[in-house]
Amino acid sequence: MSSEVHVSHSRPDGTPHDPHVPVLLDAHEVTVRFGGLTAVDGVSAQFRAGELVGIIGPNGAGKTTFFNAISGVQMPTSGRLVASGRNLTGRKPHRFAAHGVARTFQTPRTFAEMRVRDNIAFGLKFAGRRPRKYVFWGDEDGVPWALRTPDSILKLIGLDQLADLPAAAITPSQQRLLEIGMALATRPKLLLLDEVAAGLTEGEIEDMARLIRRMRDELDLTVIWIEHAVTILLKHVERVIVLHQGRKIADGPPADVVRDREVIEAYLGDEMADDTAGVTP
Ligand SMILES: Nc1ncnc2c1ncn2[C@@H]1O[C@H](COP(=O)(O)OP(=O)(O)OP(=O)(O)O)[C@@H](O)[C@H]1O
Ligand SMILES: [Mg+2]
Repeated sequence: MSSEVHVSHSRPDGTPHDPHVPVLLDAHEVTVRFGGLTAVDGVSAQFRAGELVGIIGPNGAGKTTFFNAISGVQMPTSGRLVASGRNLTGRKPHRFAAHGVARTFQTPRTFAEMRVRDNIAFGLKFAGRRPRKYVFWGDEDGVPWALRTPDSILKLIGLDQLADLPAAAITPSQQRLLEIGMALATRPKLLLLDEVAAGLTEGEIEDMARLIRRMRDELDLTVIWIEHAVTILLKHVERVIVLHQGRKIADGPPADVVRDREVIEAYLGDEMADDTAGVTP
């Protein structure tokens, strides 16, 4: 039997999340099969406006495949996906993007020959073409300062000094930041980050975590963050989902999830559970 932790999401101050806060994405019993392999196995999860949610789990647990499903990149074998009240099951990525879903890829996908600034400008052009009813911020004055221009986005992600370099000339960790900038340029409501801290130094991971917090706090984004750097992730998110062999085995505040027996056995191990036992959501 699943030992899923049935604790509702709570804010950093410990107050329960207001159930009236809109659900931006509702994944219902999502399953993705590749031939005989079930990569995602009946996963249900709701993501509400303003949440910062972590997804963890062993290699091959289905984390990326779940992201692919909830961004339209991979059509689920079964299940339902509703974004901002619209049923988008079976729709293509651009429809998810039009409903405010943006994501990064585990291997950054930037335009190597284009300048850093132009990589961002490309995404903004896309946001500009979005039908009016999908423009979430009202008129241009309603757009958070950081999302207004390529240069404001570059400033937020800390790449403003590198704007005129070709993307191929920046370091792998800067490429990750650029990919986040490209996702932000589509002016999303829901941002999906797939291992954006992979390969970074410990100091860079902390900086990345701070940037992620700022995007949620200052830009009012909902962020779902997949990462193997569990200790840091658990310090920054208020809710964490654990996937194991395609199944969701836990969903709740970090402090509860790290004590969950099934999670410890499947992923964290006792040592890690001790290390992270002090995390405060
Ligand atoms: N396009 C595909 N075709 C066939 N099998 C796939 C495909 N994509 C993923 N898989 C398989 O599905 C399972 C889940 O993979 P997925 O990439 O979602 O895991 P993950 O949790 O993101 O792992 P990691 O932490 O290593 O990134 C794995 O067994 C993987 O080999
Ligand atoms: Mg992955």
